[in-house]
Amino acid sequence: MAKRIKIFDTTLRDGEQSPGCSMNLSEKIKMAKQLERLKVDVIEAGFAAASKGDFESVSQIAKNISECRVASLARALKKDIDFAWDAVKGAKHPRIHTFIATSPVHMKYKLRMSEEQVLERAVEMVKYAKRYCEDIEFSAEDATRSDVKFLSRLFEEVIKAGATVLNIPDTVGYTTPDEYYRLISSIRENVNGIDRVDISVHCHDDLGMAVANTLAAARAGATQLECTVNGIGERAGNAALEEIVMALQTRKDIFEMECKVDTTQIMKSSSLLSAITGVKVQPNKAIVGANAFAHESGIHQHGMLQEKSTYEIMTPESVGLKENMMVLGKHSGRHAFENRLKEMGYELSAEELQTAFEKFKALADKKKTVYDKDIEALIVDNAYEIPN
Ligand code: KIV
Ligand code: ZN
Repeated sequence: MAKRIKIFDTTLRDGEQSPGCSMNLSEKIKMAKQLERLKVDVIEAGFAAASKGDFESVSQIAKNISECRVASLARALKKDIDFAWDAVKGAKHPRIHTFIATSPVHMKYKLRMSEEQVLERAVEMVKYAKRYCEDIEFSAEDATRSDVKFLSRLFEEVIKAGATVLNIPDTVGYTTPDEYYRLISSIRENVNGIDRVDISVHCHDDLGMAVANTLAAARAGATQLECTVNGIGERAGNAALEEIVMALQTRKDIFEMECKVDTTQIMKSSSLLSAITGVKVQPNKAIVGANAFAHESGIHQHGMLQEKSTYEIMTPESVGLKENMMVLGKHSGRHAFENRLKEMGYELSAEELQTAFEKFKALADKKKTVYDKDIEALIVDNAYEIPN
């Protein structure tokens, strides 16, 4: 039987921290609703204590989302936890996510605290948060550069204090798949009470290994995987949701795990995020890049015509792309454009169609080919809602 794995999306918190990716309130709500359609388990909606705007967006998302857990980040400080709770308390399934750094370099230079002080604070703040909320995630920031004995001792204490999820982040994207596998295994084996909580992993992509590290951790027993759409996030970004989910699905034979993400919503989620932030994904990006399902060479095309599985390990339909990707260009007429929109699931009024067609023509003048992703981006602005 495949093991159930939870997907924790932090596009609206860690993702939003990446340069050029900030979003306003209505954009965040739109994105949160799309994440709900994507069926992630947890939406980390923001860092409520960071600013008035963040507080407002976390509380609006909490009120507007019913199918996913909604979390707010909080440092291990009473004031942050108060803000976090105030913001998420309207959610059907609220979570407070509190963190403190545990690596020698962070404790010495950033926190100026000893191991004992960090441990005491972590326990005190988990207990404090627990008075408000049943579901408490605790993160040991920079866990992969922390002393594993200290980490295990601290995790044991925060479980006793009431944490329901323990997150072991690779904050600076430093670890490797083998090393991370061993760390997660060691924590699983040595921390009393660990089987009562979810083990979460959160990887950054500084060395390009965030997804590989996440998958290695899943094999070692992690039950919650943290990630962002398109892999946006601090510096080189976070582990990309679409890559993790499609790897689990395509290689079920190895992972023997399943999550409840609706993969046919992947493309829409990616396009919406790009349309909102203006940050495009590179054409060769796995799963969501414009070329991810394009076959150019004659040999490949020939193989595909005989039997798709020669060069296709997953179908375009499985991520929400239409198989027949008719390429539209500046010579295409309104009829072809309208037809394509219908195939993509958009029903526009005559007036909306006229505006969209004008935008399409302007874009087609600048671009040789207009892909479905470009059309999504044209449609998904203030005037139109994404179809279900
Ligand atoms: O990268 C990190 O350590 C984080 C934590 C706050 C979870 O984003
Ligand atoms: Zn992070």
